Amino acid sequence: MNVAIIGYGAIAQYVATKLNASEDVTLSHVICREGREDHAKKCIGGSVQALTSFLDINADIDLVVECGGHAAFREHAVNVLKSGTDLVSVSSGVLADDLLMDEVEKHCDNTGSQMQFVPGAIGCLDALNAAKVGGLDEVTYVGRKKPAGWKGSPAEDKFDLDNLTEVVCHFEGTARDAARLYPKNANVAATTALAGVGLDKTKVTLFADPTVTRNTHEITASGAFGSLYFKIEGASLPDSPRSSALTAMSVVDAVLARLKSIRV
Ligand SMILES: NC(=O)c1ccc[n+]([C@@H]2O[C@H](COP(=O)([O-])OP(=O)(O)OC[C@H]3O[C@@H](n4cnc5c(N)ncnc54)[C@H](O)[C@@H]3O)[C@@H](O)[C@H]2O)c1
Repeated sequence: MNVAIIGYGAIAQYVATKLNASEDVTLSHVICREGREDHAKKCIGGSVQALTSFLDINADIDLVVECGGHAAFREHAVNVLKSGTDLVSVSSGVLADDLLMDEVEKHCDNTGSQMQFVPGAIGCLDALNAAKVGGLDEVTYVGRKKPAGWKGSPAEDKFDLDNLTEVVCHFEGTARDAARLYPKNANVAATTALAGVGLDKTKVTLFADPTVTRNTHEITASGAFGSLYFKIEGASLPDSPRSSALTAMSVVDAVLARLKSIRV
């Protein structure tokens, strides 16, 4: 399988290491921003070629993997899907933009390409997907990070994150609003919503919590299937305290799953 990767940050580098080690995958191209080609090539390793647009790739690509975040998705996803190539992405929250959601669906329908968002930092999406078949009544998502983990988000305007001594709630609302307001922090809320009752019906609460050491994600759901509660305390990648380890692992799994004859 010939794969191109978008981005060369912490998650992309973990994915590249694992894919470069697989006999069945050739990681042939990395797509980066202009001027970063040499650095991107070095970060991804192997015999990868660095380019700034999917349209410049002069080879047959079976799959593109987006690990660059919302801006990268906006810049490259449509070109990939329009070409009939499948796309695996970590940036589910970008689809809080209805126009982009429509465009993605249109190109997938027209070309037969598939847009797959990985579970990323969360789990239990298999149960939500299945439970949706019989009807879900309610899905809630609660996210907790230590105060410093919310730097660069709207939480910073509401609280003095450097000096918080007790837990504070800085967002309560729909998954759509969470994804719009917290583009770097609310992909998990969006992925949960897309698997379950959708961006407008999924209730999201976000806490800055000085007592947690790891990012914590909780899902509750109820419906015809019964009810569920799921909690995960996610570790970060060893060399990148802000990057979710399970997200990187989840991308590798999504790629390698395509080659398996028995899937669970
Ligand atoms: N789905 C999830 O559960 C989940 C969890 C954690 C992170 N994420 C997403 O994963 C993304 C990557 O995380 P990371 O820790 O590797 O971040 P990072 O900052 O280390 O890496 C981001 C990479 O993308 C590149 N990039 C940015 N804009 C680009 C563009 N327009 N075109 C090409 N490349 C571009 C950057 O140069 C960098 O190499 C985050 O932005 C976040 O949105 C998703």
